[in-house]
Amino acid sequence: MIAPSQSVKQKPKQFRLVKYFAVASFIVLVIFSFPFSVVISQKAKEALLESYENSALLVGENLNQQVFRDFVLPVTRQYGVIRLRDKEQQDLMDRVVRNAIHGFKVDLVNIHSINQGVIAYSTDLSLIGHKTRQTIGYKKAVMGESFSSITSSRYDLLGLGIEILGSQKKIRSYIPFMAIHPFTGERYVAGIFELIQDVSQEYHSIVRFQYLIFGLSILIMGLIFLALLLIVHKAERIIEQRMKEQQELEAQLHQAERLAALGEMVAGVSHEIKNPLGIIRSTAELLSTMPGATDTQKKLSEVINEESNRLNRIVTEFLDFARPQVPRPAPCDLGEIIKKNLLFLEPELKKRDVKIQHNLDEKVLGLMADEELLYRALLNLLINAIQSIDGSGTIDIRVEQQKDRYLLQIQDTGSGISPENLKRVFDPFFTTKEKGTGLGLAIVRKIIENHNGNISVESREGQGTNVKIWLPSTM
Ligand SMILES: Nc1ncnc2c1ncn2[C@@H]1O[C@H](COP(=O)(O)OP(=O)(O)OP(=O)(O)O)[C@@H](O)[C@H]1O
Ligand SMILES: [Mg+2]
Repeated sequence: MIAPSQSVKQKPKQFRLVKYFAVASFIVLVIFSFPFSVVISQKAKEALLESYENSALLVGENLNQQVFRDFVLPVTRQYGVIRLRDKEQQDLMDRVVRNAIHGFKVDLVNIHSINQGVIAYSTDLSLIGHKTRQTIGYKKAVMGESFSSITSSRYDLLGLGIEILGSQKKIRSYIPFMAIHPFTGERYVAGIFELIQDVSQEYHSIVRFQYLIFGLSILIMGLIFLALLLIVHKAERIIEQRMKEQQELEAQLHQAERLAALGEMVAGVSHEIKNPLGIIRSTAELLSTMPGATDTQKKLSEVINEESNRLNRIVTEFLDFARPQVPRPAPCDLGEIIKKNLLFLEPELKKRDVKIQHNLDEKVLGLMADEELLYRALLNLLINAIQSIDGSGTIDIRVEQQKDRYLLQIQDTGSGISPENLKRVFDPFFTTKEKGTGLGLAIVRKIIENHNGNISVESREGQGTNVKIWLPSTM
C-alpha cells in the first residue's frame, strides 16, 4: 500500500519525463538535420562543379584547336618563331582566344609558357609576364592531364559544410595545350591554358538552397518533435490518471478492510447483547403480569420493554450491516413490494400528514430478487423520506422500465441534504438524527448492489431529496 507521503514524492518525478524527452529529442533531431542538409547541398555543389568542369574541358578543347590552327600555324609560317611579346602576335592571340571562348562563361584565360614559367598571354593584360604559380592543377596539366577545382574566398560556417552567402566562388581549370611537333608529328604539351570561371552567383543559389533545406529539415523535425511532445504529454496524463485511480482503489480497499474488521467486532458484540436483551425484555413482561404489580411497576416495565425493543432494533441493524445476508433471489413483483411497504407505513403517514403519490398501476413489474431484503431496503428509504418531512409533505414514487432494468425514484419534499453531507450519506454510522444509527443507507446500498443494481441520491437543501435505484428486470 502506498503511504500518502510516498505518492506525493512521486509526482514531480513523473513530470520530468516530458522535460527529459524534450531536451533529448531536440538534440537528436538537430544532430540529424545537419548531415541531412549538408549531404543534399554537397550533392548540388558536386553537380555544379561537374557541369562547369565539362564546359571548361569543352572550352579547352576549342582553345586548343583554334590556337593551334589560327595562331601557331600562321605565326610560325609568317614569323618563323612564336614571340608573344610582339604586339602583332599578341593581338592575333587575343582575337583567337576571345573567339574561342565566345559564348562560354569564362572570365579569364591565361596561357602559361612551360619553358619560361610565366604567363605568356592573358585576357587580363596586366597579368602577362607574371610568374606561374606551381599549383597541383598546373603540375597535372604539365603531365598532360586536365584539372579543375573550386576556390573560395572564405571558409564555410564552422567547417560544417554550410556556406556563407556572399563569398566568392571560382572554378579554376588547367588544360594542357597539345601541339604537334612539325618534324616528328608527335603530340606534346606546348603550354597550359588556365581558365577561370566565376560561379559565385550559381553557388549562392546553391547556398540559398542549402539554407532552405536546413530550415525545412529543422521545421519538419520541429513538427515531429511537437507531435511527439503532445503524445508524451497525453501519455503522462494517462499515467497520472491511472495512478490516481489506483490510489483511489487502494484507499477503497483500505476502507473495506477496516470495515470488515469493524463489522466482525460489531457482529460479535451485537450477538452478545441480543441474548441478555431478550432476557431483560421477557423479565420486564413477566414483572408487569405478576399478581400484585402496581400501576407504576407496570408502567416502568413497559418503559423497559420499549427501550429494549429499540435497542434490539439498533442491534439488528448493526448485525445486518456487519453480516449482510446473501440474497436468495426468487421471481417477485417490485410494485407489490412497494405496496406492502406503503401498507405497513400507512398509520405513520397519516399521523404525520404525509401524502403518497405513485405511478404503480396493475402492471406487473417482474424481477428476480430477495423479496424480504428488498422490502427492508425500500422501507429504510421510505422512513428516511418520512423523517425528512417536517409538518406535511409529499412522497412521490415512480417506477419506469428502461430496456432491461427498472428505474425507481423516491422523491420527497423534505428538508434535503447539504452538499457536504450528501457526500457522506452512504458512510456507515453517518447520521444527522438524534436516535439514528447511520446504517440505513449503507445497508440499502449493500442490498441493492447485491441485486446487481445501483443507487444514487440527489438532493437540494430545503427542497427535498430524490433517491434513484436501478434494478435489473425480468422480461
Ligand atoms: N430522504 C432524505 N432526506 C433528507 N436527508 C436524508 C434522507 N435520507 C437520508 N438522509 C440523510 O442521510 C443520513 C444517513 O441516513 P441513513 O438512513 O443512513 O441513517 P439515519 O436515517 O440517520 O439512521 P437510521 O437509518 O439508521 O435510523 C441521515 O441522517 C440524513 O441526514
Ligand atoms: Mg435511515
